[in-house]
Amino acid sequence: MTTSQQPQVRSFFDPATSTFTHVVFDAPGGRAAIVDPVLDFDACRGQVSYTRADEVIAFVRAQALTVDWILETHAHADHLSSAPYLKQALGGRVAIGAAIRRVQTVFKGFYNLEPAFATDGSQFDNLFADGDTFAIGALTATAWHVPGHTPADMAYVVGDAVFVGDTLFPPDVGTARCDFPGGDAHQLYASVRRLLALPAPTRLYMCHDYPPTVREPQALCTVAQQREANIHVRDGIDEAAFVALRQARDATLALPHLMLPSVQVNIRAGELPPPEANGQRYLKLPVNAFASSPGGA
Ligand SMILES: [Fe+2]
Repeated sequence: MTTSQQPQVRSFFDPATSTFTHVVFDAPGGRAAIVDPVLDFDACRGQVSYTRADEVIAFVRAQALTVDWILETHAHADHLSSAPYLKQALGGRVAIGAAIRRVQTVFKGFYNLEPAFATDGSQFDNLFADGDTFAIGALTATAWHVPGHTPADMAYVVGDAVFVGDTLFPPDVGTARCDFPGGDAHQLYASVRRLLALPAPTRLYMCHDYPPTVREPQALCTVAQQREANIHVRDGIDEAAFVALRQARDATLALPHLMLPSVQVNIRAGELPPPEANGQRYLKLPVNAFASSPGGA
């Protein structure tokens, strides 16, 4: 039996979106949380499928785990969430940070969503504020608000393991972009330094990796490794230098391939938009919405 200080973690990588989904649990046969589950989406066909989600379900069942939580670190802009599918199969409460309400308000306007679309976060089962604690069986978890990439980013601290979302990437990749609505490189710097003030051996689980071809995707690194080697925020890089570097890089980045389909689903806690009069559900594709800022800056 593991102690509450050292949860077990199994990570799954989706090569289509470079996303990690994690299952954190107290012990085989015990209780679990699923972090950032991915829904397969074929944008050409407008088709969703469940290969990645089914891998997670198979693991949870093989380990005889009971799912207490399905945790989103933020409203992802690069993949659709499979939280509703996993909730139906396994149970668990779907949760995200309370600042999702700001993100919902911005994108309700951006997509001109139906008037009934609520911007109070009520699509989720739970909204976390900074410092909220919750149980995963024998494990005690704490939600941290770590804004910067978006206003609503959360990290989840579970014993000596932290699910950092889009704050940090592996050391040779750096950090996440800060040019989405409400993003702020100054805030991201503060959020990252807060995470890196944790004890050196703390396990940091990434939401993404974009590995160079010379290595395999890396789900995990330690605080010590990040402080020594992160190309954007290792020790010795101050806030001004980070912000300059981050903003210069953001100005060069294209929008994520699945951004426009993803955000409109993820702000609904992973539900697809309601069916129209003919019974069909549609995703919206706003035309020239980013025309004034090619590259997404
Ligand atoms: Fe993200």
